[in-house]
Amino acid sequence: MTGPLYGLFSQSWRRMISVSNLNKSYSHPDMVLKDVSFKVKKGEFVYLSGPSGAGKTTLFRLLFADLKPDSGQIEVDGLDLMRAQPSRIARLRRRMGIVFQDYKLIPNYTVFDNVALALEIAGTPRRLIQKTVWQVLKVVGVERQLDRLPPQLSGGEQQRVAIARALVNDPQLILADEPTGNLDYEIANEIMNIFNYINSQGATVVMVTHNRALLQRFKRKVFYLDQGILQAYVWPD
Ligand SMILES: Nc1ncnc2c1ncn2[C@@H]1O[C@H](COP(=O)(O)OP(=O)(O)OP(=O)(O)O)[C@@H](O)[C@H]1O
Ligand SMILES: [Mg+2]
Repeated sequence: MTGPLYGLFSQSWRRMISVSNLNKSYSHPDMVLKDVSFKVKKGEFVYLSGPSGAGKTTLFRLLFADLKPDSGQIEVDGLDLMRAQPSRIARLRRRMGIVFQDYKLIPNYTVFDNVALALEIAGTPRRLIQKTVWQVLKVVGVERQLDRLPPQLSGGEQQRVAIARALVNDPQLILADEPTGNLDYEIANEIMNIFNYINSQGATVVMVTHNRALLQRFKRKVFYLDQGILQAYVWPD
């Protein structure tokens, strides 16, 4: 159904993520996620938090179909991840910026090439790639390392390259798993300012963090995961 009445019947056009009754276990019998449900509106910035081993990365991976749940529904930007064709999922991922907890940089590609790859896949002209990659590396503060290989960088520098790679194609949805985990206070603040800016420009952001100081400094809705159960709360002012 389309047209002005559509909004009366469905709010789905305003939702970026809709997860319902999600269950996930690995090979062992313990459930990692138990009946998890939550929604994220378009343009929202939310945290996913909880203790180590709570299932944050598991939930994060489910959000871009890197894992399949045992049961439940996951819809991202209107796409049902359980039913969608692989080509539709690939297209959706191109509109996402994903920052992995372990960075997943290509070790034998330079910093420049790691970040340029997403633009090359999208068929961006070479000159525009040069300019855009340099700009985004400058934003995260690793433009001087552009010719180096990831193993020649510090942990914090690798993390910033991983963030640059996630931002370079102007994503509508950013999923970031502990993107400030290896950064000191000042750089973590700068990275938060970058995410805040991108969010103010319309991107939806889901950020995994168990950094309580960060949660307190930049107050947002928090989805808290503990022993497989997800609860939402808002920091008091
Ligand atoms: N591929 C896997 N196979 C089997 N068990 C796994 C796998 N990945 C994660 N687990 C288990 O699932 C649980 C949740 O792991 P997950 O990585 O999602 O936690 P997390 O909240 O991201 O933790 P951290 O804060 O340490 O990153 C843990 O008990 C972990 O050992
Ligand atoms: Mg994790």
